[in-house]
Amino acid sequence: MSYKRVLSGIQPTGNLHLGNYLGAIKNFIAMQKNYECFYMLADLHAITVKVNPKDLKESIFNTAATFLASGLDSKKNTIFVQSSVRAHSEISWILNCIARVGWLNRMTQFKEKAGSNKEKASVGLYTYPILMAADILAYKASHVPVGDDQKQHLELCRDIAIKFNNDYEKDFFKIPESIIPKSVSRVMSLRDAKRKMSKSDESDISRINLTDTKDQISQKIKKAKTDNEPINENIFSNHSKRLEAQNLIKIFASLRCVTEESILKEFDGKSFSDFKKQLTEILINVISPISDKINYYKKDKQQLLEVLVKGNSKASEIADKTIDDIKKIIGLVQ
Ligand code: TYM
Repeated sequence: MSYKRVLSGIQPTGNLHLGNYLGAIKNFIAMQKNYECFYMLADLHAITVKVNPKDLKESIFNTAATFLASGLDSKKNTIFVQSSVRAHSEISWILNCIARVGWLNRMTQFKEKAGSNKEKASVGLYTYPILMAADILAYKASHVPVGDDQKQHLELCRDIAIKFNNDYEKDFFKIPESIIPKSVSRVMSLRDAKRKMSKSDESDISRINLTDTKDQISQKIKKAKTDNEPINENIFSNHSKRLEAQNLIKIFASLRCVTEESILKEFDGKSFSDFKKQLTEILINVISPISDKINYYKKDKQQLLEVLVKGNSKASEIADKTIDDIKKIIGLVQ
């Protein structure tokens, strides 16, 4: 197949943060130039844990506003809502019958999210990576931009696609490739660099939200954990335990689109206070315009609705064709 087609998604829950931006959205924006792109609000993934219906509805609009505010062009890309394209759920069931229990049992994100309370986790949380595979394969996407935490789910998607092709029809599914940022593929919490930056962290100062004000950004970076040593090249040495320092340097390098080495060279021997001032400045330069635009788009629900309705219809056309083909291939009478 000659096309270069992208599919990716973000769960519409709470505010998106710097991890979502550097891990995924930055690549969404870069890829819209040369690829046919489908960007999805993964609301069916959001309900794998209990949600407040009013909040979910609001978050769907907020996330759509964030996509546009970050620079996704609704004329070039198909921006749509997962639950509005029925084929996702239908394909997901069929892929449930292709995937093996042993494959799912290896998924580390389920183990992390379910924690010690596995028996009480929803079945949806367990089978969530299969729905993700359905999302991708419905469009026969060739490339999937994601952060590092989704890498294992992408590998599972590839295994499912390969097994379907082997079991039923050679070359039916394109085997998708993940596109993961090289530099900062996993942005860590500003309070504890052993944990990833996350919407679900109770501490708001652990993350920079894309809706944060200049003041909030500045306060959060001031409070971000570092160590007492100056900045030097041993931050990234093999036995370094300077995880918080590594995280901040990587964030800075990614925002400036330069290497970590060049940041280390620039600040060699200096303390973190000077570095933090400059990090705050660049964060404000990147985040504030997005935050202003989020507020602008959020006010115009009609425009957001139009973008989503158009996107849902275009996405449905393609995904419906895929489910029809799958049904024919596996012998389901239509
Ligand atoms: P979600 O909503 O948890 O995250 C959306 C995207 O942001 C990335 N990300 C991060 N990257 C770097 N550092 C972090 N701290 C960080 N936190 C989040 C994620 O890797 C992701 O790319 N299951 C997916 C949504 C989804 C999807 C799909 C993605 C549903 N179907 C099909 C790709 C293809 C999720 O929950 O992402």
